[in-house]
Amino acid sequence: MKILITGGAGFVGARLAQRLLARGTLGGQRITQLVIADQAAAPAALLADARVQGRVGALLAQAEGLRDEAFDGVFHLASAVSGECEADFELGLRSNLDSTRALLDALRHRREQGAPPARLVFSSSVAVFGPDPAVPLPPVVADDTLPTPQTSYGTHKLICEQLIADYTRKGYLDGRAARLMTVTVRPGRPNGAASSFFSGIIREPLAGEASLCPVDATVSHPVTSVGNTVDGLIAVYEASREAFGGRTALNLPAINITVQRMLDALQAVAGPRVRERVRFERDERIAGIVANWPKGASAARAAKLGLKPEPNFEAIIEQYIADCRATNPAALKGLDA
Ligand SMILES: NC(=O)c1ccc[n+]([C@@H]2O[C@H](COP(=O)([O-])OP(=O)(O)OC[C@H]3O[C@@H](n4cnc5c(N)ncnc54)[C@H](O)[C@@H]3O)[C@@H](O)[C@H]2O)c1
Repeated sequence: MKILITGGAGFVGARLAQRLLARGTLGGQRITQLVIADQAAAPAALLADARVQGRVGALLAQAEGLRDEAFDGVFHLASAVSGECEADFELGLRSNLDSTRALLDALRHRREQGAPPARLVFSSSVAVFGPDPAVPLPPVVADDTLPTPQTSYGTHKLICEQLIADYTRKGYLDGRAARLMTVTVRPGRPNGAASSFFSGIIREPLAGEASLCPVDATVSHPVTSVGNTVDGLIAVYEASREAFGGRTALNLPAINITVQRMLDALQAVAGPRVRERVRFERDERIAGIVANWPKGASAARAAKLGLKPEPNFEAIIEQYIADCRATNPAALKGLDA
């Protein structure tokens, strides 16, 4: 089978590609070709696999060329992040909305030529939820909470969820949207997203660096690991239409946790010297944004697909440490310092 991952050079996409290549199959079929379409180059380790073809360029420009390709499965992850969409309204529309429509139309074109409908999994976001004066945000957002996004990024995600549902209703594709929770611990440098500190307060101390936490210790949020997120995307792909249930997006599992508990877990896993590298210094801008985010999420539909959150946040930190040991031990130089 031939798979397309848009955004496959990114944090979640590269891990998904790695997992699919290691499994070798998806939905019981052998993966013979994996196309990674991203404006950035895919990691060399992925490109070294003979099944992988990397295509670099904006998705909008690539979409036309995808029209005559027989993709059996698509994971659509390419997306500008929330901060970028707030800073550049046009870029957000182009990257997240226009590109998605162009991709869906490329798949529709194939279908109209008589091909079976491609199966598509879309990475939506917990950012579809937000407090609207007319619709207060419940403490825990559920699969059936009314999404009232408060950012351009969240708005684009919600529109794409609905577009995919409608293309599915029309029989142009077999689409499923999964709402990812905040994925941590993200490797690399802080990325400017307001949620960046959810990774920074773990990643920087483990690397031996100081980290400033811009919100109070009582702030609560749904977080998960990249491994669990990839499991979720694959399970959503492999679910039967009946098991997925309807065409509405579902929440992926997460741990609802406070910043204080995250830091307690860091201390339990890495010791007090690592924990002490985190200081609280309130940033009103970030604290204001975060105050509008869900404090927790539930994932009843995902649970029916067998998906569970990690047992605790310690497990998420341990997954990050194991990944760093395998790929970038320098990111852990604070562990033994
Ligand atoms: N990481 C999270 O916490 C989180 C939470 C909720 C939802 N999501 C969603 O999950 C998906 C993956 O997230 P991630 O953390 O891996 O993000 P990421 O930024 O690491 O990866 C996204 C990739 O998309 C590519 N991209 C962006 N715009 C593009 C365009 N116009 N054309 C081609 N490529 C483009 C980027 O180059 C990048 O490699 C995204 O859709 C994101 O919105 C992520």
